[in-house]
Amino acid sequence: MNFSPTDSQQKIQQCARDFANTRVAPFARAMDERGEMPMELIHELGAHGWLGGALPKEYGGEGWDNVSLALCYEEFGRADSSVRGLMTVHMSLVAQCILKWGTDEQKKIFLPKLARGEWIGCYALTEPNAGSDAASMETTADEYENEFILNGEKIWITNGNIADVAIVFATRAQSLKHKGICAFLVETNLKGFTREKMRGQELGHRASDHAYFRFENMRVSKSALLGNVGEGFKVAMSALDHGRLGVAAGALGVAQACLDASVDFARTRRQFGQRIGDFEMIQSVIANMAADVDASRMLVYRAAWLQDQGQRATRETSIAKLFATEAAMRAASEAVLLHGGRGYSNEYPVERYYRDIKGLQIYEGTSHIQRIVIARDIIGKES
Ligand code: CAA
Repeated sequence: MNFSPTDSQQKIQQCARDFANTRVAPFARAMDERGEMPMELIHELGAHGWLGGALPKEYGGEGWDNVSLALCYEEFGRADSSVRGLMTVHMSLVAQCILKWGTDEQKKIFLPKLARGEWIGCYALTEPNAGSDAASMETTADEYENEFILNGEKIWITNGNIADVAIVFATRAQSLKHKGICAFLVETNLKGFTREKMRGQELGHRASDHAYFRFENMRVSKSALLGNVGEGFKVAMSALDHGRLGVAAGALGVAQACLDASVDFARTRRQFGQRIGDFEMIQSVIANMAADVDASRMLVYRAAWLQDQGQRATRETSIAKLFATEAAMRAASEAVLLHGGRGYSNEYPVERYYRDIKGLQIYEGTSHIQRIVIARDIIGKES
């Protein structure tokens, strides 16, 4: 068993760390306060290859394996969850999904533009009445001659307002349950499609773009099908295997950031005539956080490595997402407490980590859903 990343994986991690430390972390507080991510930063991510590294070279990517991708997300997650979230939706939920399910023509049209960040991708699954129970979606896809006609709504679509490309899921008939669902790969300039910013202010991920979509008789050619008719639910779930790995790696980055900030503070803050890090109660917090970070790291890298072996690693990916997001939630809560009054203000970044991490426990399948996925896989179907 080898626990060391390869030279090339380490190089990717180091480059990601350098870029995230210099081009993302210094602007994270301002982006959070303004509630938006500058398009220049998104273009810069694209120009430096951070939006397409996981795609094969023939489509303009770098041919990274999933371990490299997880290392990259970990580093961006340490700097800013909104930026890491944009990357994960674009690269894992959309680009890797097209790579797996797309026709040669779809790959040729969409992947090079996505790899360079010329086009941004989004993944439209969630609806007002179909969140955790994704198969109960109400958006309809009615077949008419050489087209499908889509009607319905989607919510909480990350990157939705800036996306040029969307993977949209819709059902031919709700009575068919998951077997009725189709996936469509579409450009976002089609007639009958409207979008707007989600209402209300989010708890965290405030620099992310979250959209509400409406489809009113949106006509989609049959050539836009991603996968076969009725295979859409499998397309959605297999994309989430990649996306959830990205969320788990991002959560690991948040937990590492909480640990780094807490160690710095414990070394410098003095009370009762000594560094607070010399009190055993504070040492216990730091030790528990370090153990959680290590355990998350092992689970995230294992899931990534299993995906690289070409195995379906749904259970291990859900275990990684469940553990890493819950561990980062604990770490963020303890980090705020350890910083005392300072942690309660955005003068220190732990306040943002605490708000952001809640999102990672919810999106791409809540912790409850991850437990369902894990337990069902362990117990198996009744024979
Ligand atoms: N890969 C391939 N196929 C899969 C799969 C996977 N990972 N997981 C399940 N399937 C297949 C099953 O094998 C089954 O196929 P058969 O009919 O051939 O047996 C089929 O899909 C149906 O599976 P289930 O019976 O398990 O389906 P279910 O309706 O009971 O749902 C669930 C299971 C795990 C609860 C699923 O609905 C789920 O993951 N829900 C959470 C949805 C979610 O994560 N939403 C977040 C959306 S993205 C987002 O957050 C916003 C954003 O912008 C990023």
